[in-house]
Amino acid sequence: MPAIDPAVAVLVVGAGAMGSGIAQVAARAGHSVYLYDQNDAAAARGRAAVEEDLRFLVGKGRLAEAEAAATLARIRAVASLDAAAGAGLAIEAIVERLEAKRALFLELEGRLGAGAILATNTSSLSITALAAPLAHPGRLAGLHFFNPAPRMALVEVISGLVTDPAVADRLHATASAWGKVPVRARSTPGFIVNRVARPFYAEGLRALEEGAATAATLDALLREACGFPMGPFELMDLIGHDVNYAVTSSVFDAFFGDRRFTPSLLQQELLLAGRLGRKSGAGFYRYGEGVQRPAATLCAAQPAPAQVVLVGEADAAPGLAGRLEAAGVAVSRLRAPGVATLALSDGRTATARAAAEGIDDLVLFDLALDYATTPRLAIAAADQCGEGVAEVATGALQAAGIAVSRLDDVAGLIGLRTVCMLVNEAADAVTRGVASAADIDAAMRHGTHYPLGPLAWGDRLGAGFVAAVLDNLHRHYGDERYRVSPLIRRRALAGGRFHAEG
Ligand code: NAI
Repeated sequence: MPAIDPAVAVLVVGAGAMGSGIAQVAARAGHSVYLYDQNDAAAARGRAAVEEDLRFLVGKGRLAEAEAAATLARIRAVASLDAAAGAGLAIEAIVERLEAKRALFLELEGRLGAGAILATNTSSLSITALAAPLAHPGRLAGLHFFNPAPRMALVEVISGLVTDPAVADRLHATASAWGKVPVRARSTPGFIVNRVARPFYAEGLRALEEGAATAATLDALLREACGFPMGPFELMDLIGHDVNYAVTSSVFDAFFGDRRFTPSLLQQELLLAGRLGRKSGAGFYRYGEGVQRPAATLCAAQPAPAQVVLVGEADAAPGLAGRLEAAGVAVSRLRAPGVATLALSDGRTATARAAAEGIDDLVLFDLALDYATTPRLAIAAADQCGEGVAEVATGALQAAGIAVSRLDDVAGLIGLRTVCMLVNEAADAVTRGVASAADIDAAMRHGTHYPLGPLAWGDRLGAGFVAAVLDNLHRHYGDERYRVSPLIRRRALAGGRFHAEG
């Protein structure tokens, strides 16, 4: 299916943050763009915002002056929808209200040609519901850009129940031609990114509520040990707690109160206090001139021990044993009395595992994206540990150049529980036909900049291990939020991968 020809004009309705960005993207790709807003001043402001961004790109040497001028010349702020009757594609980016969007699409259907495609940039409304009042609901689909649209590569192309597959195909090809990474999704709450990302916030909030560590410590671990671009608390502060809480609540409500999406009381408290994050000057952190972000809590320096025991699957933490040995700490696979025993968490607390396996001196460590290079790692010691055992484990990891943060003994520490829940949510979206494994991973890599797609991460960890971690979390909390997705269970039993190829 070919992309929409650049000779076809595009109408963008709503000239706010998203509409102006989308107009810029379409104009860069060669389309004439009509930019309409019910507020004339907003349309002019939207075009001015494009001009400013184009000038910024020219200043950075990323865009030729002539191309910037040609792009801007293709965008026309119009005062009436009549002026845009010739458009072959209309993209709506107005206020996030079902009735307002429905009224707009009915109006557009009456004004644009029969072959014109209608697209919505909604983040949360049902595409099916938006299309329902139309005479030809098959011509409407979701075209969900991310903020800022000119910079973010991801575009979710969303089909409602009756969206014509040819319309979705054409939008997909068009987004590609515009230099974007399009993925396909079925119209379900949160589409891909806003659904699959929920556990990233939820597990952080839960660990914080349980007193696992400070927000700054948990943020640093997810950033530096697991490779996420930001930790959940700094990210929620940036997004704004009003927005982030509203997305979680809307996904929770749209799934009829599925406990997996339960909003956090802790975040609600911030909201009630007016601590919306950066924009209000305080959230989990304080903002303002000269205000220092608190540092992550680190264990004090300990002497390097002569040896430690490392139990569990030999390849559970590739690179870690070699790193310890290179630092002069002998690593034994055989348990020995009086020697600290290290193991990768499996979703149980260290205390529960020590009791079940009869290892008193057990210290669990967390998931890292790459144990051979990680600069930071979390540990948790069993309550049964003898005196000084956690310090011995700490000293061994420090000798290998790893900054160690000791968490309270929470199940699944922080990186492991977060990543396994992301895998679970992604697998559930595949199970329910929301999107393919490849598209979900592409969406999370390009829409949230996760270091790996959740399902590629699941393949790396192995479905059996992910299932075991989730089962352990489920048993520990007795909360159905940790129930294992049917796809993970299936892959765990048959030994298969989430991604067909390598
Ligand atoms: P915004 O508030 O910056 O801009 C909305 C614009 O639409 C305003 O200029 C307003 O005057 C205009 N408008 C409202 N009702 C209108 C109508 N009936 N006809 C014509 N113009 C109308 O909002 P923003 O952030 O640009 O969001 C727009 C849409 O994009 C919403 O559906 C939102 O959920 C979605 N979205 C927002 C993202 C974000 O990060 N801001 C990301 C992805 C999607």
